[in-house]
Amino acid sequence: MPLVPRPGLDRIQPYQPGQRPIGGGGPGVKLSANESALGPSPKAMAAYADAAGVIERYPDANAVGIRQALADRYGLKVENILMGIGSDELLSALVRTYAGAGDEVLYPTATFPMYRIYALSTGADIVQAPDAGYRADVDALLAAVTERTKVVIVANPNNPTGTYLPADEMARLRDGLRDDILLIIDAAYAEYVTKTDYDAGIALVDGTDNTVMTRTFSKVHGMASLRIGWCYAHADIVSLVGRIRSPFNVSSAGQAAGIAALVDKTHEDTVVAHTAKWHGIATQRLSALGLEITGTEGNFVCVGFPDEDGKRAKDADAFLRKSDIITRGMAGFGLPKHLRVTIGTDEEMEVCIDAIEAFVRAW
Ligand SMILES: Cc1ncc(COP(=O)(O)O)c(C=O)c1O
Repeated sequence: MPLVPRPGLDRIQPYQPGQRPIGGGGPGVKLSANESALGPSPKAMAAYADAAGVIERYPDANAVGIRQALADRYGLKVENILMGIGSDELLSALVRTYAGAGDEVLYPTATFPMYRIYALSTGADIVQAPDAGYRADVDALLAAVTERTKVVIVANPNNPTGTYLPADEMARLRDGLRDDILLIIDAAYAEYVTKTDYDAGIALVDGTDNTVMTRTFSKVHGMASLRIGWCYAHADIVSLVGRIRSPFNVSSAGQAAGIAALVDKTHEDTVVAHTAKWHGIATQRLSALGLEITGTEGNFVCVGFPDEDGKRAKDADAFLRKSDIITRGMAGFGLPKHLRVTIGTDEEMEVCIDAIEAFVRAW
């Protein structure tokens, strides 16, 4: 008898990570994975290097130091914080904790493709509610809820559109969901948001026992290769998810670097200011070409191209690749007419925007 995998796995295509420059033909610019243009805090790098002498020991399984540093930084209780191998591990574990075969996991249409993989891998079905103007639509999400809905996931701000739900809209979503539905607010890009009507999710988690906020050190803290994420939730959720996570999921060096990153607010502010500056410049220069920019938040801009021969997003992608400039086609994220450009360094942004301008001017 052949091995029979769990139902649902045949519907999963492996995640396609952002590609790297191949070398030759241009400067080699990687703007495909929403990594930090400015890298980590020098203090985080020093803490990481300091930890190099003790790699024979398992890390602190409870990651007390970094959880305490997060609690101090954001005014939270340590028992409500759980660390993960990136926020990826936590998103996966949360879905596995609350959804299984026969259940539904609901999320918006144009969003982070890993939600699909987490849901299908538990045997659950996925339901996607239509967006409104590239933004999650609370009414559409609520209308898509069925008796089988167990988990709702909203990236806020959303990758790839850069749109966000203000705090009152997210609260309206929570209010409209049954109490037995877990709401996951994936706030991977929270630190970049400057809008005053935004809340990363802390207030909603505080006021409910069925809401989780996930966060990451991969974006504003520039530590994507260390794989450190965290979530903030009611202690019962933390306890349940804590049972199925990997025991030593954050390395000692990662914990040390994360603690150092959290206290280096100056570096974080520099990253946020650099990102805002280039978000503004990219939006202004690309909009002036008649291209559509879908949102205002995050460390990326999502650019819409015309649906005409030679002008499509895939044509722009091919044009940029000739100069070894690697952005990300968004077909796999539900937006086939768009490219997502991660905010890079000053030089990378000049090169990339110049190239897109050259592409459009040749039409
Ligand atoms: C919306 C969103 N959520 C989660 C993640 C995963 O981040 P991490 O590196 O913490 O696993 C990403 C990474 O790009 C993301 O864009």
